[in-house]
Amino acid sequence: MQSSEPDWETVLHLAITLARDAGAELRRRFGRQLTVTLKDELNPVTDADQAVETLIRQGIQASFPTHAIQGEEQGETTPEGPLRWIVDPLDGTVNYAHNFPHFAVSIGVADAHGVHVGVVYDPIRDELFTAQRGQSAWLNGMRLGVSHTTELQRALLATGFPYDRRRNDDNNHREFVALNLASQGVRRPGSAALDLAYVASGRLDGYWEQRLGPWDVAAGALLVDCAGGTLSTYDGTSFDGLGHQIVASNGHLHAALLAELASARRPAS
Ligand code: IPD
Ligand code: CA
Ligand code: CA
Repeated sequence: MQSSEPDWETVLHLAITLARDAGAELRRRFGRQLTVTLKDELNPVTDADQAVETLIRQGIQASFPTHAIQGEEQGETTPEGPLRWIVDPLDGTVNYAHNFPHFAVSIGVADAHGVHVGVVYDPIRDELFTAQRGQSAWLNGMRLGVSHTTELQRALLATGFPYDRRRNDDNNHREFVALNLASQGVRRPGSAALDLAYVASGRLDGYWEQRLGPWDVAAGALLVDCAGGTLSTYDGTSFDGLGHQIVASNGHLHAALLAELASARRPAS
């Protein structure tokens, strides 16, 4: 670590401050008239996403002008920097645009070894999930732990569907049907960051999704890891941190979850 690099406590503190400020702004705008444009057929962005990403970027730049920032809406600035902030200003835009009160701000901060600080904030429930690599994960000051469910048929799971699902047959529909039959239930809450935070807090036993972005998973995956959960891709290899594929679970159910996914994805012979 370079001597000019900030200490992680300072970074965590700023990430928490910015997530709370961003969440307050989302709460203030929630339910009001929004400007919604489509990035793709099914993928919306609102003026709230943009305003909140600007707020977070300005906050990072004011304290750490040399750090890289990778935000979902405004791309990557300063690609070289001692640390990289990976930001989803509003995870759950479809919910938000429909006044469905389930969404979050997600901020991960990574060094060359991966994500070291993760913060996910749900401004509707005022729930702040935080983690620092090598330490515990927390929810509003309470230590988090994954669930103890050992049987898939007793498990509550979550997933999501990619925005290109109309034109790409690899759209999670077969996997959803298979896991919905194999488990106690599958939810589609609409915020990947909160899905991961809920695995970390034991509210969900497992979660899977693919074709996400790094901003969807950076903070949430660290929460799962620090809460004692297991992360991988669909074939069980190490989670790459980018969100191409992610399976998160309490660990006990991981092999069963992977087996169901593999069987659902196998071409019919
Ligand atoms: C989306 C949400 C959703 C997931 C999508 C993501 P956005 O993020 O996390 O739950 O299923 O794949 O893109 O677009 O609301 O930031
Ligand atoms: Ca997102
Ligand atoms: Ca987003």
